[in-house]
Amino acid sequence: MSSQSAPLAVICAMPEEKAALRELMTDLETRRFLGRDVTLGRLEDHDVVVAESGIGKVAAAVTATLLSREFGCRGLVVSGVAGGLDPELHIGDTVIAHSLVQHDYGQLQDSGLKSFRPGVPPLGPDRQDIVFSVAPDLVERLQAIAADIDLPDLPAGLLPQSAPKAWRRRRVVMGRVLSGDQFINSDIERRRLHRDFAAHAVEMEGAAVAQAGALLGLPVVVVRCLSDLAGVDSHLDFPRFVAAVAPGAALVLRRIVREL
Ligand code: ADE
Repeated sequence: MSSQSAPLAVICAMPEEKAALRELMTDLETRRFLGRDVTLGRLEDHDVVVAESGIGKVAAAVTATLLSREFGCRGLVVSGVAGGLDPELHIGDTVIAHSLVQHDYGQLQDSGLKSFRPGVPPLGPDRQDIVFSVAPDLVERLQAIAADIDLPDLPAGLLPQSAPKAWRRRRVVMGRVLSGDQFINSDIERRRLHRDFAAHAVEMEGAAVAQAGALLGLPVVVVRCLSDLAGVDSHLDFPRFVAAVAPGAALVLRRIVREL
């Protein structure tokens, strides 16, 4: 069992995501690890170890596993941005994962991809249990934070002139987060992912860290602020919004650390 004083491992795929978190940390110390700078420090009086993993499932799972072994971490956190899938959500809103799925893992049939549970042989009873679920008591506590927290407005200059005022009120919701080794830039695919997986957001790391957490016996929290809506404009929205929305995930994480 990890002790309460053990640090939390925080995995960020991109430098913008890590930089947003560093802004909120104190007692910073940088160590070279995995060929990258790892930042040790305090977030809301909790020890954290933050690494930029690079993008994708393998990079994130390897980083999470090595951090947890090297620093004896008590939990794994993924903090950063995602593409929105739920049509109710807008750029700047945040999804905290209550469940995670690797949407690109499975058996490719003529009719499309049949999902299987990652890491489980494609035979036997567990293979269709594709969801990595966050423990119900933790979901309950995260839900209370989601309902309570207010995020600052996005800079007005970033929003289209035509954006209605309500668009700027940033929501924080619990939801299902999908991960795959694909940047989604397609209206057809975003609709399919939303429909087939009842998912709220898509990114490229969280469900891989969830798989690592399940193997390591560590709780996993994934916080994602929406940089785009994964549709035909996502390749334009992502670079425009990534640095502006990444601090949203970091602010939500600051409220969450004490629950882990
Ligand atoms: N992360 C942020 N936006 C994304 C998208 N559209 N697809 C996958 N990962 C993302």
